[in-house]
Amino acid sequence: MKIGFIGLGQMGTPMCRNIINAGNEVVVYNRTIEKTKVFQGIAEIAEDPVQLALNCDVIALMLTNSEAVSEVLFDWKIADNLTTGKVVIDFSTISPYDSIRFSEKVREKGAEYLDSPVIGSTPSAETGSLTVVVGGKKDVFEKHINIIKSIGKNVFYIGQNGSGLFIKMINNMVMGVNLAALAEALALGNSMGFDNQKLLDILSLGGAGSKVLELKKEKLSKLDFSPQFKLEHQAKDMFYAIEIARKQNVGVPISSITSQLYSSSIKRKFGSMDMSAIYSLFKLINGDDTH
Ligand SMILES: NC(=O)c1ccc[n+]([C@@H]2O[C@H](COP(=O)([O-])OP(=O)(O)OC[C@H]3O[C@@H](n4cnc5c(N)ncnc54)[C@H](OP(=O)(O)O)[C@@H]3O)[C@@H](O)[C@H]2O)c1
Repeated sequence: MKIGFIGLGQMGTPMCRNIINAGNEVVVYNRTIEKTKVFQGIAEIAEDPVQLALNCDVIALMLTNSEAVSEVLFDWKIADNLTTGKVVIDFSTISPYDSIRFSEKVREKGAEYLDSPVIGSTPSAETGSLTVVVGGKKDVFEKHINIIKSIGKNVFYIGQNGSGLFIKMINNMVMGVNLAALAEALALGNSMGFDNQKLLDILSLGGAGSKVLELKKEKLSKLDFSPQFKLEHQAKDMFYAIEIARKQNVGVPISSITSQLYSSSIKRKFGSMDMSAIYSLFKLINGDDTH
């Protein structure tokens, strides 16, 4: 089974490396061609995306959002070159409704489609220990489980197309709210002269502790907002979560307010920083623009 991998960003690069390390024959392509260089000698580098689609049985995607996946599948003519037996495995976090639409269009070509968003950030991508939540036909999932297991330690089959992404968005709304609450609390603590290191050390010991605190403790202590998970990606995921809530007629007031905070952070140019830069927004709101 030959695998084509498109989207060699912060997550895609280590994920693709793990697929190669698992013994798979891989062809890579990326919009910014320079990012394929690290795969020289260990994977085939496609000259263009159509060549990749023609030569591969599986087309794996790890792209920013719905627009990027649509562009790659349809404007780049990948979908036009899919035939019976081929499968698109989309690891990107995109709107579940767009994903369902894409899966229907791909199926018109006789090919199959799995939404396989991942939970966990770059360290888990490096070690192949992501959590993967998969939507699509069960037999297609079972046939491709080894590829998915090469990037993920915990793999869950959820149900029909889009269902992996529904779970992913529920996960990320909790993560976004959690981090915003932590950032707000730190800003209050700072106003009384308490530093982040001490606050985080203490908060981590009790009920205020969380996985998010654990993951972002170093960044918030050192004020190192170099991107691990970009704030603009978190904003996108809150937006998709709210889209689901709207369609379900379910009120999500806390996520709605939090979503606006992430949007304002993008306006303040924190979008390409790590999501923990939401802390800088709270500092700004409270009159401190030194971060
Ligand atoms: N980072 C994390 O911790 C994390 C964790 C879980 C899930 N995710 C999700 O995983 C996905 C990728 O995240 P990432 O952190 O790897 O992002 P990233 O570093 O920004 O990489 C995005 C990739 O998408 C490509 N791309 C974007 N727009 C495109 C377009 N219009 N046409 C073609 N290619 C396009 C980029 O190509 P270029 O190289 O040319 O820009 C790059 O390869 C996102 O959906 C994100 O929400 C991320």
